[in-house]
Amino acid sequence: MAAGSPPVVIAARNVRKWFPIRGGVFSTKVGDVRAVDGVSFDVHEGETVGLVGESGCGKTTVGRLLLRLIEPSSGHTFYRPPPDVMARLEALYGVLNPYAEAQNNGGTLPADASASLHELDEIAKQYSLYRKKNRAMRDLRGKLQIVFQDPFGSLSPRMLVRDIIAEPLEIHHAGRRAERRRRVTELLGQVGLNPEHEWRFPHEFSGGQRQRIGIARALALRPEFIVLDEPTSALDVSVQAQILNILRHLQNEQRLSYLFISHHLSVVRAMSQRVVVMYLGKVVERATTDSLFSTPLHPYTQALLSAIPIPDPDLKRERIVLQGDVPSPAAPPPGCRFHTRCPAVMPVCSKVEPPLIEVRPDHFVACHLYPAEWSGAPASRAATLGTPLAESHDAFPELRPPEPLESEAAPSEPAPPEPLRSDADR
Ligand SMILES: Nc1ncnc2c1ncn2[C@@H]1O[C@H](COP(=O)(O)OP(=O)(O)OP(=O)(O)O)[C@@H](O)[C@H]1O
Ligand code: SF4
Ligand SMILES: [Mg+2]
Repeated sequence: MAAGSPPVVIAARNVRKWFPIRGGVFSTKVGDVRAVDGVSFDVHEGETVGLVGESGCGKTTVGRLLLRLIEPSSGHTFYRPPPDVMARLEALYGVLNPYAEAQNNGGTLPADASASLHELDEIAKQYSLYRKKNRAMRDLRGKLQIVFQDPFGSLSPRMLVRDIIAEPLEIHHAGRRAERRRRVTELLGQVGLNPEHEWRFPHEFSGGQRQRIGIARALALRPEFIVLDEPTSALDVSVQAQILNILRHLQNEQRLSYLFISHHLSVVRAMSQRVVVMYLGKVVERATTDSLFSTPLHPYTQALLSAIPIPDPDLKRERIVLQGDVPSPAAPPPGCRFHTRCPAVMPVCSKVEPPLIEVRPDHFVACHLYPAEWSGAPASRAATLGTPLAESHDAFPELRPPEPLESEAAPSEPAPPEPLRSDADR
């Protein structure tokens, strides 16, 4: 991102999660599911980063890793590294990344890389979530929250709403009992529920209302970063728009940062400032939302976007249908992981893994169609890259920010919080 951008809240670098596969009578390790295999991106203060990709590509695992809900196999997630530390990280990874592959294959690091590794370790001790001790991590938990897809499954059916929302406050000993009660009422108001709702159980609510309770609970400890894992996928369209409105309203009000995981590309476009596209555990493209949706560069992204329906019958877009199934993450294809399904595959693709390079300003892609020497290409080259997918936003009217809607058809539903401002107002 350009100089003068808001501070970085979360910076993932080379994060990996390999789940062991066990088999045989003695349950010995027979392989690994490479769910997340070296993912790097940043989330800035007040920003929404969308995370998209087919089922099983590792989105939820990335979300959990960024919150340290599961331990990584390797890599770091830095929490609030100051700008000078970010600059050092860029320089250090610039030295270390080229050697990482060699080291994975049993090679040794050269001397200059060892010094960089030592400096990285010192930074990690201070800023990496994965190096925090129990106590420090517990203190950070309130700042890092998650909202799940299934609001029913994530709320205890035996607890009153007031206790569900107050639970994180109690665990973290936040305030006295009376203060906690006041905070629960305040949180219910923030998500558009009434004070009397606190005396109900989760089954007494509609799906949208239950998701509001999940959001209120996530907000209880005044978080800075929230992973929204398909927060509206289980809801019908009108209720989806209400929940998205609430999330955006809260973001504007509290300067929250979101990782927004969704299959619904139209929603991702409306919600996010930047988008990360994953395939089989890897980031294949990463860009500002405008750049990604107007000029997707990776063949996989182009296929994903070509599947978005156009509501105007006069407008036609050729749909790219990918052949074959997604390969198993336990045995990913060598070279480019997408080569077994790519319509533009070349001989080099099955042999050499393409690095993720910046070929347009703030637009990164991992594909041999864009050679490494194009990294940091001049604007003239960048302007010629890719095939514009759509002439204008009008080709995707369903992508405009959700309008504030009528309240849900559920008992005692109050009006949702203030309508959101349109993109043009921001
Ligand atoms: N605890 C686990 N043990 C073993 N494998 C796991 C575990 N959790 C996830 N996986 C595997 O890791 C891969 C990525 O899973 P993940 O849930 O992150 O995908 P996803 O992109 O969120 O998919 P979806 O869109 O369906 O939610 C899958 O192959 C999954 O089976
Ligand atoms: S590297 Fe090759 S196989 Fe992979 S997306 Fe690019 S063209 Fe397709
Ligand atoms: Mg998931």
